[in-house]
Amino acid sequence: MSIEIRPVAGALGAEIRGVDLSRPLGNSASAAVHRAFHDHLVLFFRDQRLTPEQQMDFTRLFGPLAVTPFVKPMDGYPHIVKVLKEAAERGISTFGNSWHSDFTSEQEPPLGSVLYALETPEHGGDTMFANMYAAYDALSDGMKRMLEGVKAIHVGKPYGTKYGPPRTMKTSTSIEIARNLPEADREVAHPVIRTHPATGKKALFVNPIYTLRFADMTEEESRPVLEHLYAHAVRPEFTCRFRWTKGALALWDNRCTLHYAVNDYDGRRRLMHRTMIEGDRPV
Ligand SMILES: [Fe+2]
Repeated sequence: MSIEIRPVAGALGAEIRGVDLSRPLGNSASAAVHRAFHDHLVLFFRDQRLTPEQQMDFTRLFGPLAVTPFVKPMDGYPHIVKVLKEAAERGISTFGNSWHSDFTSEQEPPLGSVLYALETPEHGGDTMFANMYAAYDALSDGMKRMLEGVKAIHVGKPYGTKYGPPRTMKTSTSIEIARNLPEADREVAHPVIRTHPATGKKALFVNPIYTLRFADMTEEESRPVLEHLYAHAVRPEFTCRFRWTKGALALWDNRCTLHYAVNDYDGRRRLMHRTMIEGDRPV
């Protein structure tokens, strides 16, 4: 079986063909997938048929399985979250519907995440990704110098008591997400520019879901620069967009990408299984 790697955009993302993820990958296939992961940051596989165990086995190729904080796991599977929106759920806020990297509010945010599509709307419900190496590289020399060594404070805004969405906001009832937890307000500092441990490249590491402010600065002082960075980070040239089909699987690197779950499929059911890989402390 020969592996084909087809980039889907200039910035990041590649579709991998000729791989059956339900079986153990041989050494050469596994090496090719790991290489592609570092080259393309987000990998897409189509037409897979995976049991939860097989998805967990694939996820483990990249590191130990991580438990997803604040979200109730699937019955019997502490490492899998069922990402579901029912057709009847209209006008709600959905999981991941803002640009972010997963759980940067953790001391050791997940290295990567895997999303596997069991039921997809005929159209809509795409996921967008953005390349944070490219975002860093495109900053001016002055901005790079200014941000070097600076840390940003991250908190679990959507799950906490201080920065969470208003209680009146309609949220999904088919995915159980903790709200108003004081422990989610805990502040964690991460470098604004992080160096990827495997590639040695620098990436911009702030996002509007979890980043609150720069360390040793007020929210008000931080806001103009952060807003600029958020807008800059997701310029169309740095992004790709994945159109889901039943059996598709995406694997992304949270250390050098952002992603955005497009919530444009009211009236249609969408069901995914999500796993995450343990990460280390950003440096
Ligand atoms: Fe996410």
